[in-house]
Amino acid sequence: MTALRYVRVHGDIGAADWMRVHNAVIPTAPLALDEVRGNAALRVMEVAYADDVLVGNSTVRPPTDDEPATVIVRVLPEHRRQGYGARLFARALEQGREIGDGTVQTVVLESNDDGLRFALAHGFVEVERYLLDDDTIPFVTLRLA
Ligand SMILES: CC(C)(COP(=O)(O)OP(=O)(O)OC[C@H]1O[C@@H](n2cnc3c(N)ncnc32)[C@H](O)[C@@H]1OP(=O)(O)O)[C@@H](O)C(=O)NCCC(=O)NCCS
Repeated sequence: MTALRYVRVHGDIGAADWMRVHNAVIPTAPLALDEVRGNAALRVMEVAYADDVLVGNSTVRPPTDDEPATVIVRVLPEHRRQGYGARLFARALEQGREIGDGTVQTVVLESNDDGLRFALAHGFVEVERYLLDDDTIPFVTLRLA
């Protein structure tokens, strides 16, 4: 199995590749490079490469007063169903558990059948659906005990 190489986004390092994956997977809520750089200062954001080919990214958001740590992984469509998502997820889950109280949640676009199936298969349970301003497709929040 091809080893994955992970790079943590920091300033310009990894930011453009992280954005490329995010905007390909979530075209309804694209992010600009400045937003990616800013978010990376507050979250653990990584990009993953297989043989130097960009395959996916991850986000681990620290817990807030209202929410547990949030863990999200994304794999480019052309690299799916090869186990990369599961490996990215295992790593991000560990990071999420370390910065929180052990509970984690994830957020998936409702239209994202692969993502919802993946989250449910990894033991997540839906807790809410919400629409961002001007969006038409809701996000689904799922939680893992
Ligand atoms: C969810 C997501 C990350 C999964 O990525 P992925 O790389 O396809 O994940 P995996 O390869 O580990 O698993 C996906 C499926 O491929 C299967 N699979 C894994 N390795 C395989 C292989 N070598 N051959 C065939 N199938 C394989 C898995 O069993 C799984 O099957 P299932 O969907 O029937 O349960 C990807 O679909 C995605 O980016 N979705 C949008 C973002 C999102 O919603 N993220 C939220 C999840 S936290």
